[in-house]
Amino acid sequence: MKIALFYGSTTGNTEDIAEQIQRMLGSEQVDLFDVAEAAVNESAAYDLIIMGVPTWDYGEIQPEWEDVWEDIDQVDFSGKSVALYGLGDQIGYGEWFLDAMGLLHDKVQAKGGRMVGYWPIDGYQFEASKALTNDGKRFVGLAVDEDCQHEMTEQRLQKWLQQIQSEFEEV
Ligand SMILES: Cc1cc2nc3c(=O)[nH]c(=O)nc-3n(C[C@H](O)[C@H](O)[C@H](O)COP(=O)(O)O)c2cc1C
Repeated sequence: MKIALFYGSTTGNTEDIAEQIQRMLGSEQVDLFDVAEAAVNESAAYDLIIMGVPTWDYGEIQPEWEDVWEDIDQVDFSGKSVALYGLGDQIGYGEWFLDAMGLLHDKVQAKGGRMVGYWPIDGYQFEASKALTNDGKRFVGLAVDEDCQHEMTEQRLQKWLQQIQSEFEEV
C-alpha cells in the first residue's frame, strides 16, 4: 500500500506533520512531495493519496498550493482514495478555520476522488469553516492546530491514521 503525501507549507508546520505521518506509517510506505517542487500529476502513480494544506491570510489557500491550484484540474482522481489534513489556528483565525482544506476537498472530489478521513469537530472551538461536511458535524479531513492545540496533535494523528488505513482498505 504505497501512499503519496502532497503538502505545501509556509512556516513548516504542515511539513512537520507530513514527516510525522511518514515516520508513523513507515518511510517505505509513504512518499513525500512538497508541492513547491513536485508536480501534482505525480499522484497518477498512486491509488492512495494524502494531502496537507494550511490556510493563510483570512481563508486563503497556502501560496505554494495556490501556484499548483489550476494543475489539480488536470489530474484524474477517479479510482483513488484521498485523505486530507488541514492546518489552521482556531483562536486567531476562527472565522476562517481550515478554509483551504474545504476548498481543496471540493476540488479533488469534483475530479473523482473518493474522499476519506473525515473527522469530528468535537474538541475544537471556532466560529466558521469552509471545511465542514453538510451536516456541520465533521471536518472533511483531519484538523490540526499547532498554534493552539499542539499537545493534542500526536494523539489525533495516531487515531486518524488508523481510521484512514482502514478506509483505504474498504475499496
Ligand atoms: C498571517 C496569518 C494568517 C493566517 N490565516 C489563517 C486562516 O485564515 N485560517 C486558519 O485556520 N489559520 C490561519 N493561519 C494559521 C496557519 O494556518 C497556521 O499557523 C499553520 O500551522 C501554518 O502552517 P504552515 O507552517 O505549514 O504554513 C494564519 C496564520 C498567519 C500567520
